[in-house]
Amino acid sequence: MASHSSGERERKLRLGVNIDHVATIRNARGGDHPDPVRAAQIVAECGGDGITAHLREDRRHIRDDDLKRIQAATDLPLNLEMAATPEMLEIALRHRPHAACIVPEKREERTTEGGLDAAGLHNQLSPLVWKLKDHGIRVSLFIAPDPRQLEAAIRMGVPVVEFHTGEYANASGETRGAELRRIADMAALAAKNGIEPHAGHGLTYDNVQAIAAIPQLAELNIGHYLIGEAVFVGLAPAVLRMRELMDNS
Ligand code: PXP
Repeated sequence: MASHSSGERERKLRLGVNIDHVATIRNARGGDHPDPVRAAQIVAECGGDGITAHLREDRRHIRDDDLKRIQAATDLPLNLEMAATPEMLEIALRHRPHAACIVPEKREERTTEGGLDAAGLHNQLSPLVWKLKDHGIRVSLFIAPDPRQLEAAIRMGVPVVEFHTGEYANASGETRGAELRRIADMAALAAKNGIEPHAGHGLTYDNVQAIAAIPQLAELNIGHYLIGEAVFVGLAPAVLRMRELMDNS
């Protein structure tokens, strides 16, 4: 098709690239190469829609000064992933990222293993959500595609939820189909309730298209696989290939 109507353009699924693992490699040697800021610039140049970075309590990858440098180096919106702690709230309010995605965090985990227990942690999360919103930061909760968690997010008044796609990515056969339906159903329910649904975790060239085909999803956040692929083909080609797969889904 030669041209797109504005309606089609509005529905374009955004790709947020999580650059944490560039910092993981940098930190392995304790120096300043490879610099996640350069990764953010490349993502901006090749048409990525946002930068996602998780400032962990133990600073195992992204460090405090990276946030400021990323914000200064690109115009792309920064999505700060953060645990629901007073320290991270203070950092978020100081840096004012475009968006903050509240994630569960365990010191011993290798990666964010599951969704946030938004239902069980309502009283802890609610004031944090309001403070972030008050400061003009777009808050999202990283939750499992589970009606109980989505209901809690609706009650908290968040504008965005990100559905954890890890169970889907790790499953195969019928189980994967069931996980996909769960995500699709929850994305539809979120949109019906005025919440913008996003998704991420464990997405690859092989599994992204079924997720990208869910019509209500507005954004995917993808990190580990892209940075891994970048080792072989370069970051820009890896991002462009992911973008192409998403667009053709
Ligand atoms: N979205 C969130 C909220 C995450 O915490 C992460 C990283 O754990 C991702 C997306 C990206 O996941 P992955 O690195 O597996 O692509």
